[in-house]
Amino acid sequence: MGLNARTILVLGGILFVCVSFITFKPSPPKSSPSPANLEQSQQPTAPLVRQPFSDPPPIYSEPLLDRDIPRPAAIPVEAVGVYDGAPEWLLNTVAIISCNLGYLDMLLNFYCNARKVFPINLLVLPQDEELYEFLSVNATQFSVLHPSVFSFHSANEASLWRSEAFNDISVGKVRAVRYLLQWGYDVWLSDVDIAYKSNPIPHFAGDVDFEFQSNAGCKGQEFQLGEEPNTGFYIIKSNPRTIRMLLDVEESHPRRPDIDDQTLWADILQEWWRSEQAVLIPSNVTDVKSYIQDLNFDEEPFTFRQLPCVKFPIGFDYFR
Ligand SMILES: *[C@@H]1O[C@H](CO)[C@@H](O)[C@H](O)[C@H]1NC(C)=O
Ligand SMILES: *[C@@H]1O[C@H](CO)[C@@H](O)[C@H](O)[C@H]1NC(C)=O
Repeated sequence: MGLNARTILVLGGILFVCVSFITFKPSPPKSSPSPANLEQSQQPTAPLVRQPFSDPPPIYSEPLLDRDIPRPAAIPVEAVGVYDGAPEWLLNTVAIISCNLGYLDMLLNFYCNARKVFPINLLVLPQDEELYEFLSVNATQFSVLHPSVFSFHSANEASLWRSEAFNDISVGKVRAVRYLLQWGYDVWLSDVDIAYKSNPIPHFAGDVDFEFQSNAGCKGQEFQLGEEPNTGFYIIKSNPRTIRMLLDVEESHPRRPDIDDQTLWADILQEWWRSEQAVLIPSNVTDVKSYIQDLNFDEEPFTFRQLPCVKFPIGFDYFR
């Protein structure tokens, strides 16, 4: 099936993520898989037991950097740890996906594909009531949080790529991730327009604050100032540095409403990098601690790495 650049943009928003493990699924199925189909595609792992959402945790308006905030009961324990048998560094990680009803087919498709490859436990953050209702009734194998937890309300605003409404929605995802970080969870975010051909986790180093697929592709050099991490595929760890960075991204949004979350985030990362609050961990470094120690930072810097570009190429390269 044909997939041109424009389709990628429209379907994926700002996502150019495509991985040799991950490949676009450009055409959603003609009709939604029935619950029975979804059931069939599941691996024979322990079923997720979704806990009824009764008492939403408060929406925090102030930055809370206290790691001891009680975890909201609304996050089912089944959604934590990514998958049974995952590496230890993921034990506190929640694999999340966030979209609205318009992406339902792609969400179901993503889930069916991912579960064929490895028994991923996914927490869905619906961006509208309609998707929440649908999943609650028709796809109870998902762990789902109510959209009000993150003030998602995008049903009526689903909108053109990079329009202001689109940017609001995309920054909403950043806010949702930041809440999870404040609640003490590390986050693996994957967008719905991705399908895994094998488990991507073994290709993460897992030793930095932020590990991402780069939009720059493979140029035979390390990630450079000015290049963009893709905000559709990354793992971010919970700590005051990451929470502060996401707050900076969120706070820059009202000043630049015409800019999407990915560009805002890339700009903030650059600022931090230039001012030596953030440091790139080169791909050949295996001991991050001593690498940082040798650089003599005043304060512990925000550390980041690019995922191997050969394994995680940009979409345009993949289809070239
Ligand atoms: C459940 O799925 C059916 C069939 O696709 C659909 O008609 C119905 O609206 C769904 N229920 C909810 C609450 O979305
Ligand atoms: C990593 O590569 C750089 C050159 O690109 C080299 O200077 C450095 O010594 C290497 N570091 C390690 C730990 O191999």
